[in-house]
Amino acid sequence: MEVKYPEDSKTTLTDLVLPSETNPLNNLFGGELLARMDRAASIAARRHSRRIVVTASVNHVAFNKAVPLGSVVTVEAKVSRNFKTSMEIFLDVWIEDRESGRRSKANEAIYTFVAVDDTGNPVPVPQIEPQTKLEQERYDAALRRKQLSLVLAGKMKPKDATELKALFVNDK
Ligand SMILES: CC(C)(COP(=O)(O)OP(=O)(O)OC[C@H]1O[C@@H](n2cnc3c(N)ncnc32)[C@H](O)[C@@H]1OP(=O)(O)O)[C@@H](O)C(=O)NCCC(=O)NCCS
Repeated sequence: MEVKYPEDSKTTLTDLVLPSETNPLNNLFGGELLARMDRAASIAARRHSRRIVVTASVNHVAFNKAVPLGSVVTVEAKVSRNFKTSMEIFLDVWIEDRESGRRSKANEAIYTFVAVDDTGNPVPVPQIEPQTKLEQERYDAALRRKQLSLVLAGKMKPKDATELKALFVNDK
């Protein structure tokens, strides 16, 4: 099967924060950011698989930094690892300083998408080969995140989550 690289799926969405998208503190509403990340992740998963893709799970979201009204927000999404029919998508969210143009990291998230056929049945996706150190780190950690997600969803027994268990057993 065809091999692809994380860079092949790279998706960048840049947009403003408008008043209708903020909370009472005039910061970006969390649900709006989740939707922007879902859109970017969906495009990345589609670029990797060239299939219809659906969101299977939001594995992790960290709202580390508030995003003020008027900010220019950039969401970057890349497939970090493929499994058989599912893909982990890593998202980095940046805001841009108006005067200097310098970008700072605001948030990050990890989504899982599944490639499906016209009737919604899961179908295999291409293999991915990480190229950079960061891509390799994200690739290496993706299996335990998948196992954690499946355990939390009640789709895997904790005793079968071998990679996840190894994290706790081996961590001194
Ligand atoms: C996602 C979906 C296609 C999975 O279908 P399914 O019948 O559970 O199929 P499977 O059990 O074969 O799972 C397919 C893949 O998804 C993965 N998966 C399913 N649930 C998961 C979860 N909670 N976390 C991580 N991976 C998950 C499975 O591990 C499997 O991966 P693999 O083939 O790469 O090993 C199905 O549940 C679905 O269509 N859900 C609705 C999607 C949707 O509408 N999203 C938008 C929400 S509004």
